[in-house]
Amino acid sequence: MSAVVLIGTQWGDEGKGKITDFLAKRADCVVRYQGGSNAGHTVEVQDEKFMLHLVPSGILYPQTICVVGNGVALDMGNLIKELDGLQQRGVDTSNLRISLRAPLVMPYHKKIDELEDRSNGIGTTKRGIGPTYADKINRTGFRISDLVMEPEFFETRFKAQVEQKNRLITEIYGEEGFDYRILMDELLSQVEILKPYLADTSYLVYNQIKEGKKVLFEGAQGTLLDIDHGTYPYVTSSHPISGGACVGAGIGPTCINKVLGIAKAYTTRVGEGPFPTELNDEMGEKLRQRGCEFGTTTGRPRRCGWLDAVILRYATRVNGLTDLAVTKLDVLDEFPVLKICVGYRYEGRVLTEFPENIGVLAKCEPQYIEMPGWQKDLSDVTEWSDLPVEARNYIAKIEELSGVKQSIVAVGPRRSQTIVSGQLFD
Ligand code: IMP
Repeated sequence: MSAVVLIGTQWGDEGKGKITDFLAKRADCVVRYQGGSNAGHTVEVQDEKFMLHLVPSGILYPQTICVVGNGVALDMGNLIKELDGLQQRGVDTSNLRISLRAPLVMPYHKKIDELEDRSNGIGTTKRGIGPTYADKINRTGFRISDLVMEPEFFETRFKAQVEQKNRLITEIYGEEGFDYRILMDELLSQVEILKPYLADTSYLVYNQIKEGKKVLFEGAQGTLLDIDHGTYPYVTSSHPISGGACVGAGIGPTCINKVLGIAKAYTTRVGEGPFPTELNDEMGEKLRQRGCEFGTTTGRPRRCGWLDAVILRYATRVNGLTDLAVTKLDVLDEFPVLKICVGYRYEGRVLTEFPENIGVLAKCEPQYIEMPGWQKDLSDVTEWSDLPVEARNYIAKIEELSGVKQSIVAVGPRRSQTIVSGQLFD
């Protein structure tokens, strides 16, 4: 059995797309299990750059089965656009499978996301993620299978939902509502395009694992954006942690044998919310520029700061990490001194565990250790032994502080810029 869950250990944007792509080459099946068009995974192949949002990063390998699981908030229009874009660039998308249970993102969800975020101030991606999951939990949402298998029942419920959402949009926000007939026609034409891809993906993934195939679960966002375990309310509305893979793909925890955490060599976050190691100075700006820290989905500049080992330890715990991949190490090439946060000072005490409450987190002052930088260009290094000693020490410190061994170090966006020291698939 070889099933690996890959997750972000921080606030997303850890470079998961690149590592997924690297592992997808060795995988038979890559599964997305949560999130939706809010995700933005960048994969660089030779001189070509691919931005993936809903499609699993394994799509660039024609032999890999790619699954959009039941936990993914499915925006059919966006998925069709993404598939068109890939096909135009010669990518074979015939191995994609979409869960019949996937909840649909409706145009009103995106509108409500935009309107509600004005007052909530979460700084969402406006892709309708929160309102879609809210409807799912409230049992007022729609699954793609409803549209295919029970169109008449779907239409009756859908008409009532559009009326209800229109009341919110027009009466509370004073904006224009939606014409249910136009939406219905649009949904019916979209589902016709996606029909060939629909499947019972829980059955498919289970059998892949049972047959001994290598299955990779591709987490989107990151641990601190988890609805339960993240910095609530400044989180997304799904479960990016490893446990989310079971629910969002429809398999049991005994099916999984490794959990790979992706940690950027420093920390970033997009959107609002406390961020203890944030650098609001030229150092932060240097990280942003060197790391090209601008959102893949929204283009927003990301907030940047030093590596936070309190967060990594927390991610180790809530995800059950067995392995670690450290990404974007090359971004630190020019810094003479590097800092790592090892604890938080809060009301005269030092906290070493991540606080349960964001009010506490907002008042935490990071306690740093300092390490010498390497001040050498790492972008061509392909062997662990060729890394400067300062870089190896930095990684060793991360292993010591997080309690997890690294298996992969990335020193640039290209596939070749990856140093591998552990075997992830048995
Ligand atoms: P939502 O997922 O669009 O509802 O946004 C909720 C929060 O999660 C916001 O702070 C977003 O910036 C953040 N977020 C959502 N998706 C990503 C991602 O892929 N990378 C980083 N942050 C994300």
